[in-house]
Amino acid sequence: MSRFYVTTPIYYVNDVPHLGNAYSTIVADVLRRYHLLRGDAARMLTGTDEHGLKVEREAQERGMTPIAFVDGMSVHFREAWPKLEIETDDFIRTTDARHERGAQALWLDIARRNPDDIYLGSYEDWYCVGCEEFKTEKDLVQPGNLCAIHRKPVERLKEDTYFFRLSRYAEPLLELYRQKPEFIQPESRRNEVVSFVSGGLRDLSISRTKLTWGVPVPGDPKHVMYVWFDALANYWTALQGSDAAKAFWGDDSRIVHVVGKDILRFHAVYWPAFLMSAGVRLPTTVYAHGFLTFNGHKMSKSLRNSVEPIGIARAFGQVVGGDAGGADVLRYQLLRAIAFGQDGDFDLTAMVERYNADLGKNLGNLLARTLGLCVKMTAGKVPPPGEATALEHDLRAAVDGHWRDAVDAWDRIEPHRALERVWAIASAANQYVDRAAPWAEDKKGHRGRVDAILSTLLDVLGALSVAIWPVLPAKSAEMRRQLGLPPVQPGEGKDWFAAGLETRAAGEALAPGTPLFPTLDEAGGKALVDALTPKAEGASASAPEAPASPGAPAPGAATATAIAYDQFGLVDLRVGVVKTAERVPKKDKLLKLAVDVGEAEPRTIVAGLALSFQPEALVGRRVIVVANLAPREFGKGLVSYGMILATGPSEKLVLATVDGEVEAGARLK
Ligand code: MSP
Repeated sequence: MSRFYVTTPIYYVNDVPHLGNAYSTIVADVLRRYHLLRGDAARMLTGTDEHGLKVEREAQERGMTPIAFVDGMSVHFREAWPKLEIETDDFIRTTDARHERGAQALWLDIARRNPDDIYLGSYEDWYCVGCEEFKTEKDLVQPGNLCAIHRKPVERLKEDTYFFRLSRYAEPLLELYRQKPEFIQPESRRNEVVSFVSGGLRDLSISRTKLTWGVPVPGDPKHVMYVWFDALANYWTALQGSDAAKAFWGDDSRIVHVVGKDILRFHAVYWPAFLMSAGVRLPTTVYAHGFLTFNGHKMSKSLRNSVEPIGIARAFGQVVGGDAGGADVLRYQLLRAIAFGQDGDFDLTAMVERYNADLGKNLGNLLARTLGLCVKMTAGKVPPPGEATALEHDLRAAVDGHWRDAVDAWDRIEPHRALERVWAIASAANQYVDRAAPWAEDKKGHRGRVDAILSTLLDVLGALSVAIWPVLPAKSAEMRRQLGLPPVQPGEGKDWFAAGLETRAAGEALAPGTPLFPTLDEAGGKALVDALTPKAEGASASAPEAPASPGAPAPGAATATAIAYDQFGLVDLRVGVVKTAERVPKKDKLLKLAVDVGEAEPRTIVAGLALSFQPEALVGRRVIVVANLAPREFGKGLVSYGMILATGPSEKLVLATVDGEVEAGARLK
């Protein structure tokens, strides 16, 4: 039996569980369930990250001891996840005695195996409490010495500290990324890490003396461990309690860390370096997912916290007859609408549309119409196999093909594609009913044909009820109840994976019930969206979190879309000169350009200009480039490193440019 161990980041307790971390946790749960279905031993870990300066200060502000504060906050996370149909095998807190012991053991393993890897020194630099990380000058935004992520002033910290000799691990890490391309997924993120590590690594400060709220360093209790050393260790410390648990870190286990892209560096650079030094095996994959926006807005803290995943699940629960089913709808939307690994928008109107189309009209309707036909034509029982024709063979072959593609997608950790394939099964079955027309066969008295059609549909529905289980566990159970089947058991998919569609025994009773996913009409959908849209959404989505830097003009709070002055300063706008332009095969809107933006090499920029411009007409043109956007993937191997500004409808675009012979790379301000 294969082993599969999946983890989520452990969440900071000074926040509430929000849609962003619900996303990581749901993905991990879904992967665990997929592996259970395959008959693997699967285990999932989540938990809370409870040490560090941020927590110590927040507790102080509230007049609480840190432990009382974290005890209270951690509960929110522990209680939230089951409400989203997430089943965790373990929940670790970094204040657990087992964790503190484990983190100290890992430290000692490093110190014993590689005595040079941990050494005492002193350190002075800028520190961002929000990131719990030292920053160099180039990480800061001026004026005001602001952390580029938190937009808050950093502090100067100087202290004695133990260092980890990270510098020694640059080469071994690069070798790891070369040898095991699956270690960092998706590929675009791997490239970022490779280029970061290729620049060389500085030794890492891994202890603090200025705070006491942390795990004491073994042998030197004046120091507590740097929160990230302590936090990363959780994945391993959580398994140290028993041999059965330890086996999930064994050589034959597939270990997957699901993380957000913001914390990839910690997981793909520091963590494997610590493990290499301690002589512990490395995880199989660190999968960095993208960031979610909500209704098109960036989820700044205030917006993020007013988008309540459990509230969304409950609202849909009212529509589908129960909170668990509502959680399924949310899970489906998060996994289907967002390409895993890429940034994506969680849009409520789109969620209602997808709910109606995929869940209501496609899957739900297939079940309802099949069971309705069985009530009418086979006395509500599973019919015998009847007289199959090419129609049935074709459907079974199509289902088999889609299922195999879905399995491949799951194995590559591409849930959106896996679901797309599963729903292709439902679409194929709906088309098949129309083509096979059992009502016409029934009228003609063709018993054998009616039986063949309805038994085939019941087989396909049985398979679908298994295939949807990882994402829609509650609705899978409900669907199976109506089909007269027991709930999915671990290993349920195993034989089916090998054997293809199972055929049910004739005569078993069916139990049609209410629709799985009643469709929402326009008014109902709109009411749901309105009820779930945070009231001050526009304002909170775009207003800066922190006050603007001293001396900066007051942010334009008058309009919902105003941004602070120095936020605009973050956008690197440059003049670019197009060097080459070509069409992109199979993408009729896109052109691939090489644009000189004043760097050693021209940049590759993929732009939706093909409906408006012949490629050759662009060569030599001056364009305005957003030069510091995160790279964006447009398919296999095609990555864009910037954006070109233009205006107008996509078939009549006009390029933004500069008035004059300005050289490539000139900054716009
Ligand atoms: N405590 C650290 C993780 C330590 S793991 C050893 C931490 N915690 S966090 O609570 O700030 O963030 C947890 C996760 O939530 C991160 O993976 C982060 O990417 C994710 N998200 C926060 N906002 C998000 C979105 N808007 N969208 C998607 N995920 C986001 O970092």
